[in-house]
Amino acid sequence: MKSLGLGLALPYLNIGGSLVDTQRGLLEIEKRTLDASEEYWALIKSQFSFAPKLRYFNNASLGGSPLLVQKATTHARDTLDGFPSKYMWGGWDDEKEKIRQSVAELFSVSNEEIALIHNTTEGMNLIARSFNLDPDDEIILGDHEHKSGSICWEVFQESKGVKIIRPTLPLLPQNEEDIVEVYRKAITPKTKIISICHIVNTNGMMLPIKKIYEMAHAQGILVAVDGAQGAGMISIDLHDLGCDFYTASAHKWLFAPKGMGIFYAKQESQHHLKPLIVCRGHNTKTIRRLENYNTRNLPELLGLGSAIEFYNYIGKEKIHDRSYELKNYFRSKIETISSLRLKTPASDTLSAAIQIVEVINKDVNEAQEYLSDNYNIDCRPMSTFGLNALRISLSIYITKADIDYLVDALVAYSDS
Ligand SMILES: Cc1ncc(COP(=O)(O)O)c(C=O)c1O
Repeated sequence: MKSLGLGLALPYLNIGGSLVDTQRGLLEIEKRTLDASEEYWALIKSQFSFAPKLRYFNNASLGGSPLLVQKATTHARDTLDGFPSKYMWGGWDDEKEKIRQSVAELFSVSNEEIALIHNTTEGMNLIARSFNLDPDDEIILGDHEHKSGSICWEVFQESKGVKIIRPTLPLLPQNEEDIVEVYRKAITPKTKIISICHIVNTNGMMLPIKKIYEMAHAQGILVAVDGAQGAGMISIDLHDLGCDFYTASAHKWLFAPKGMGIFYAKQESQHHLKPLIVCRGHNTKTIRRLENYNTRNLPELLGLGSAIEFYNYIGKEKIHDRSYELKNYFRSKIETISSLRLKTPASDTLSAAIQIVEVINKDVNEAQEYLSDNYNIDCRPMSTFGLNALRISLSIYITKADIDYLVDALVAYSDS
């Protein structure tokens, strides 16, 4: 276990001298805890290693990892290859538990409620396959659920006769109640589970989980949340948010190595779950039974530890505030341009760092290509639900200067 002596502990790995530049950057970050200037955020950006000239507005698809995480993960791979059997089976058990603890602390829950899995898709599969429902039971999935949170219910439950109800969400709700009402109307005495995105990947709309959970639980309905776009973007207290299960991909807004996911199951709800994969250790009573893969991606898991460390170093409230600062800066610029139209709900209770924008009278796929070819901008075109809009992710490595650049590019395209 080694600390860089910066006040920034790197408890999981001893990663040696190649970190000099990374250390310098981190030292600077450490000195500026109270600083939230653009210069500070440029410093955060300097800790990532995007390709030269690339403006990466596509974090909702996949995040980048900061240098610290890249180096820690590479080092872990090298260490593992130095003594494979030792590290795969037992050598890193303490580190793994410390990482579980750091994830639990980030989401204000107990470490006995966190499993370290691979991604959101796995978490949703784990939930959907766990239940033995009756054929006429009902599950509610809003129409904006990601395929990773709907196919598993279709394959594991609908095929057995369980009814899947797909209510239509408003694209631009005025307030949370507009969405709660959709779920209220979809619930019947046969509803057993609501499976719901925290933030939908289509137009970045944030769903009022707490209100839906309160309504559902009063009627004995379980709530499973797909947190792929929530975890890391905004500050989350999972006990307060309220849900039975919450699953996320740490390789998006938490900047972990690719293939690391987080699974939360409320203590009282864990008995509903069955592991997706069974092997030695499957009958343990703790939540660890859900992450028992035998040989697995431990270097990435250790990299997750470094990602949480990096994240905490900036601070979850500071990152939360930055998500809204960037959102509001982006929206205020777009709102002044008549050829561009925002298609994400405006209220801070209904969206954060994912916003979508239509270039009026232009096709979104052509818009995306134009931005990529002429401006090195990467963002995701969204065509479903008639959106015809570019999905813009405003992650912590985006500066206001990047947003200015993006808006200029959008204006140039709309004039072309
Ligand atoms: C809302 C949502 N759920 C699930 C996923 C699937 O994520 P993963 O491939 O990391 O499992 C995504 C990916 O973009 C997503 O946006």
